[in-house]
Amino acid sequence: MYRITERRMIVPNLHEFTVEAPAVAESVRPGNFVIVRPDDQGERIPLSVADWDAGTGTVTSIFMQVGGSTAKLARLKPGATIPTFAGPLGKETEVGRFGTVLCVGGCYGIGSIYPIARALKENGNKVVTLIEARSSYLLYWENKLAAVSEKLLVVTRDGTKGVKGHIDQIPGLLRTAGIVPDRVIVNGCTFLLMRVAQVTKPLGWKTVVNMNPIMIDGTGMCGVCRLSVAGKTKFACVDGPDFDGHEIDWDEFLARRKTYNPEEVDPLRRSSCRSHF
Ligand SMILES: Cc1cc2nc3c(=O)[nH]c(=O)nc-3n(C[C@H](O)[C@H](O)[C@H](O)COP(=O)(O)OP(=O)(O)OC[C@H]3O[C@@H](n4cnc5c(N)ncnc54)[C@H](O)[C@@H]3O)c2cc1C
Ligand code: FES
Repeated sequence: MYRITERRMIVPNLHEFTVEAPAVAESVRPGNFVIVRPDDQGERIPLSVADWDAGTGTVTSIFMQVGGSTAKLARLKPGATIPTFAGPLGKETEVGRFGTVLCVGGCYGIGSIYPIARALKENGNKVVTLIEARSSYLLYWENKLAAVSEKLLVVTRDGTKGVKGHIDQIPGLLRTAGIVPDRVIVNGCTFLLMRVAQVTKPLGWKTVVNMNPIMIDGTGMCGVCRLSVAGKTKFACVDGPDFDGHEIDWDEFLARRKTYNPEEVDPLRRSSCRSHF
């Protein structure tokens, strides 16, 4: 069993979740993920690693409460235990020496882009980080990200912090700041990944997206996380989760993501009912 040392809502619907898992903390790399099960009957869900401390043997993720399993996780208190915390899984994000790297994070990806930005900076890159949210009250970890970035850019759709607008404004924002990225790395929800890839494609900026399909085993056996990249079948859990965003078949990806929506409603309803007692 794995003991939870922290589980708190840091902004509405997003939780910081820290678990004692010394073996994972010792070997995890930026871009890896873990597979978590909230209880013995629970399904296995993947969560990206957002930070770790090999000294205390702890690993931190940021999760968004969207359905049954994340609702169960959101009810756990520090000191509680979970039966599964498997990892580190997936290939690590490439953090070599590229020059100027734009790290983009939204939603849970504001957390998981952090170790990537940190490693890129340690390797001598000029790191520009851009975080985006609907409103300023949904932003977090700004100080942590500023500490590993040469520049931290903020975009909010309602203009309550940083530049008002949408992720589509990346090219204009960078032009104003005199920045031309040698690589763009994006972490967060699917729409953010897809939209950034669409915006950077005509500019020819290589864009790496951290894909988040439905997964079961996370080790390449079940085939559920299949996606098409440059016309070839890939499995996000073992071939990724990072891929070139310009080579992904986004239409197929979005269609596959909806496959289990009807089935997901029931566990969510059951879990919401329980949360009222
Ligand atoms: C490699 C990887 C890393 C991930 N990292 C994180 C992370 O760090 N933090 C985090 O909050 N989530 C992350 N996700 C997504 C997370 O695994 C799902 O949100 C989770 O499985 C949902 O489980 P659930 O039972 O709570 O919701 P479900 O009941 O399974 O789903 C509820 C709703 O969310 C949608 N949904 C399901 N899976 C996903 C998904 N992968 N992405 C977006 N929407 C989804 C469903 O279509 C449904 O509409 C990651 C996914 C992958 C593959
Ligand atoms: S999750 Fe089963 S093959 Fe990737």
